[in-house]
Amino acid sequence: MCGIVGYIGHREAYPIIINGLKRLEYRGYDSAGIALYDGSKIQLAKTKGKVVDLEAEVAKGITTKGSLGIGHTRWATHGVPNDVNSHPHYSNSGDLVIIHNGIIENYSSIKKELIKRGYVFHSDTDTEVLVNLIEEIKKKEGVKLGKAVQIALNQVVGAYAIAVFDQKKPNEIVVAKLGSPLAIGVGEDEFFIASDASPFIEFTNNAIYLEDEQMAVIRLGREIRIRKIKSDKRIKPFVQELKLNIEQIEKGGYDHFMLKEIYEQPAVIKDTFRGRLLADQGIIKLGGLEEFIPKFVNADRIIIVACGTSWHAGLVAEYTFEDWARIPVEVEYASEFRYRNPVITEKDVVIAISQSGETADTLAAIKLAKEKGAFVYGICNVVGSTISRETHSGTYTHAGPEIGVASTKAFTTQITVLTMIALKLAHVKGTISRSDYMMHLRELDTIPTHVAKALESNDEIKEIAKVFKDSPNFLYLGRGYNFPVALEGALKLKEISYIHAEGYPAAEMKHGPIALIDEQMPVVVVAINSNHYGKVVSNIEEIKARKGKIIAVVTQGDTAVRELADYVMEVPKTPETLTPLVTTIPLQLLSYHIAVMLNRNVDQPRNLAKSVTVE
Ligand code: AGP
Ligand code: GLU
Repeated sequence: MCGIVGYIGHREAYPIIINGLKRLEYRGYDSAGIALYDGSKIQLAKTKGKVVDLEAEVAKGITTKGSLGIGHTRWATHGVPNDVNSHPHYSNSGDLVIIHNGIIENYSSIKKELIKRGYVFHSDTDTEVLVNLIEEIKKKEGVKLGKAVQIALNQVVGAYAIAVFDQKKPNEIVVAKLGSPLAIGVGEDEFFIASDASPFIEFTNNAIYLEDEQMAVIRLGREIRIRKIKSDKRIKPFVQELKLNIEQIEKGGYDHFMLKEIYEQPAVIKDTFRGRLLADQGIIKLGGLEEFIPKFVNADRIIIVACGTSWHAGLVAEYTFEDWARIPVEVEYASEFRYRNPVITEKDVVIAISQSGETADTLAAIKLAKEKGAFVYGICNVVGSTISRETHSGTYTHAGPEIGVASTKAFTTQITVLTMIALKLAHVKGTISRSDYMMHLRELDTIPTHVAKALESNDEIKEIAKVFKDSPNFLYLGRGYNFPVALEGALKLKEISYIHAEGYPAAEMKHGPIALIDEQMPVVVVAINSNHYGKVVSNIEEIKARKGKIIAVVTQGDTAVRELADYVMEVPKTPETLTPLVTTIPLQLLSYHIAVMLNRNVDQPRNLAKSVTVE
């Protein structure tokens, strides 16, 4: 979590860092801070709150001159969000200043040791311990900053992306990474540092992504020096050309990133198909998959590991893989999987799904699966992310940057990729008939149009949101392929409106949740025309008999549910296997409108962060 930004070069560092922090604010936003070198000393400002609060704090007192600086937007792990715990943190001498994303797990024992040596701590953070450890090593060993950072990092346990500089040597910034992301933008006589490339994309397309356990000394006027933290081995910098553009990371006329991202879905699903789905020719071609098809086809089972929304996409895939390709699938929360000594063999294929490609639990699950000899396939959105590099092969979702903390287009594009993989495997295995295969390819191809159609119900959904915005609880029900959609709908509502919501398989309702139903309880039911239609209609009757309020997602032209339900949200007809791609849309819009009406911070809901790079 948290975003870090740094600059060293010939421009004013302040606007670059502040704008960069705003772009990274999706990563963490409970406090923000900046440290600039003004030509003679460090100017530091920090505060609890958002980057706009930081701007106000800066305006109160510090000089914003200088072309070297670092900035931070925090998602607290150690110490409450307050001014003092905000980053950057000074060392005791006041010479060194640091920003940190991650957790130093053994900070407490190091802190005790440093206190014995006379160090004083002002904050409760693990980060302040690290900067003082670096200072202590620098003094005691008489080494340069880079070396001191390296020795210190060999003593700490945990995860970090850090940037640190010394006001006595203000021509360099030292950075290092383990577990948290760190990109270096390389310009003409200038360097940018950031958690992802968005802060520097208008200045340079050239970036170096540090690998885990690497550090770099970034000094003006010379090549970046990258080395391994443990072995001291020099690494030749690998400069990548970025494809990102500035429009992709701006709101483009929408009130919120989330709304923009909801509306981008028809286009990004097309992008996910591009060059991969050739419906007329009966071809699905996924670059990362082709040579590994035998691994999947001969696998004993597929284990899907993921968190949150990505886990919901995995649940949808459980249905498609088993239904079409007849391969047993287990879907695991990465955070549970990693710690429960799971049985994994070389005959298992593990699929890791992650929008950010940085989720710590998913990454740990991948490492575990690799250690046990499994083949690991990644489905990521962020190109070049840690998970995309850690997996043996994989497919990108091509959804473009997702800035809203609540995942929307990442979910539908993950399902798109997983559906293509399942269809391809079923075709290769012969577990699906040629005609069924061809029909699904054609239907898949029309999904972007169906999604666009589903978005047309926006105004009606807004009206429904008005009616239910003050309900304290919601129940979401779905069956079969739409059970994960119910879970996802409930998660969206919880995340951005702070209304309690539960997702359940519709038939499971009678085993408990039915006790919650009274005239106050809105129940959102995905009741599309599918195999389970009759059963879901009965579930709706059961809710109506107990005076619950029904908001139903129905297939266009539906009459039976329309008669029973209090409100309906229509989606176009598509084969049941593909319905999650369309039924998700009204649920995204419903939670969006409720959150807006409740005045919530839609793009940056409280307590959350976009990529969860801590345990
Ligand atoms: C989704 O709305 C959430 N913010 C969250 O559950 C997210 O899906 C989860 O943290 C996994 O993230 P990832 O896909 O980047 O790994
Ligand atoms: N552990 C540090 C803190 O709590 C950094 C957290 C972050 O990644 O934002 O301040």
